Amino acid sequence: MKKVLFVCLGNICRSPLAEGLFLHKVQNQILGDQIEVDSCGTGGWHVGHEPDARSLKVAAQYGIVLSSRARKLRIEDFATYDYIIAMDRSNLRDLRAQQQYAEENKAQMFLMRDFDPLGKSKDVPDPYYGGEEGFQNVYEMLDRSTTEFLDFIQKNDLK
Ligand code: 4NP
Repeated sequence: MKKVLFVCLGNICRSPLAEGLFLHKVQNQILGDQIEVDSCGTGGWHVGHEPDARSLKVAAQYGIVLSSRARKLRIEDFATYDYIIAMDRSNLRDLRAQQQYAEENKAQMFLMRDFDPLGKSKDVPDPYYGGEEGFQNVYEMLDRSTTEFLDFIQKNDLK
């Protein structure tokens, strides 16, 4: 079983959308018994909340139901997950700052858009303070990036 954790700041806009999109693709390819998916935030303000209404709406437009509830990053996540995927550089900095306190470290860390064929290694911008078009833009980046990331895992990690 390979474990994947998507990380953003609040765990209500970007990473739940990444989780839902990626899980949808994993299930479509009948890989649900080989890949496990979760998301979390580096911040704890929204712990227990459902995703932002604008993330729920854009996902629903593509037939994807987001069922996660926000949780905060835990130090054990570095030992539990094979892949930790940060939405932007600020998230990656926060992750690296926490990682040094982890006793055990299994996770390989990447930026989500390391896997985006359009705009390699750019940030997934935080859409929280903007309008709905920002969520559409984020959806499209995540759609491209999660497809390439799943290809990457299948080529490198699954038998
Ligand atoms: P996210 O967006 O990191 O994509 O979930 C945000 C959600 C909430 C806040 C910031 C970013 N906030 O400051 O409450």
